[in-house]
Amino acid sequence: MTAPRTIALDGPAGVGKSTIGKLLADRHHYLFLDTGVLYRAVSLVAVRQGIASADTARLREVARDLDVEILRAEPESEFMYRVSIDGEDVTEILRSPEVEQIVSEVSAHPQVRAELLQRQREIARANPSVLVGRDIGTVVLPDADLKVYLDATLEERTMRRHRERLQQDPMYPYERVLAELQRRDKLDTERASSPLRVPDDALLIDTTGKDVDAVLLAIEARMTGG
Ligand code: DC
Repeated sequence: MTAPRTIALDGPAGVGKSTIGKLLADRHHYLFLDTGVLYRAVSLVAVRQGIASADTARLREVARDLDVEILRAEPESEFMYRVSIDGEDVTEILRSPEVEQIVSEVSAHPQVRAELLQRQREIARANPSVLVGRDIGTVVLPDADLKVYLDATLEERTMRRHRERLQQDPMYPYERVLAELQRRDKLDTERASSPLRVPDDALLIDTTGKDVDAVLLAIEARMTGG
């Protein structure tokens, strides 16, 4: 089997898609695009401009006009990449509770998704890429050469996310992370437009109790036809 040119990596919040996708891309010289960043960027602009998460028309305009850049992070950075909007570095704030709070609602609008769809496809067309998200294998790149769906129990995902949160705020409650993930799982899977689904032809990996290397090995085996 020749190496896949496009790799679609989907799964629920907190499953480790970005970690796995970034390592995979670095190891095999792909461009890495965490598509959640685009939805987060629209959400951040909405928060700043006081746009309600139900205001389809204005959110669509934000998505259409979004001047977002995704750049390589400096090697010692705690971030996998840096994101700027209109030239301003927003990497950290894209992970803030304010953005987290509305991003699933913002991304449920078909008009917002349609605006961001072409950008994602253009990136994947221009470069051998690993795209990470919720609907990459089902909608954005239905012809991706390799589709992977990562899953893990809610408890495991909560523990992982909680560990990350504690770095920003040592008092962040576990129960709050649990409630956030439950809420986002519900919104991501139940929305009418491009809900989170396992693509029919995906390699399904349950990452519960598996370390990063084990997951990478399973994907790499498939990349080389194993
Ligand atoms: O992966 P993430 O947590 O950064 O994603 C943030 C939100 O964006 C998530 O709740 C659902 C949405 N999203 C989406 O709808 N489609 C994608 N391809 C990526 C993310």
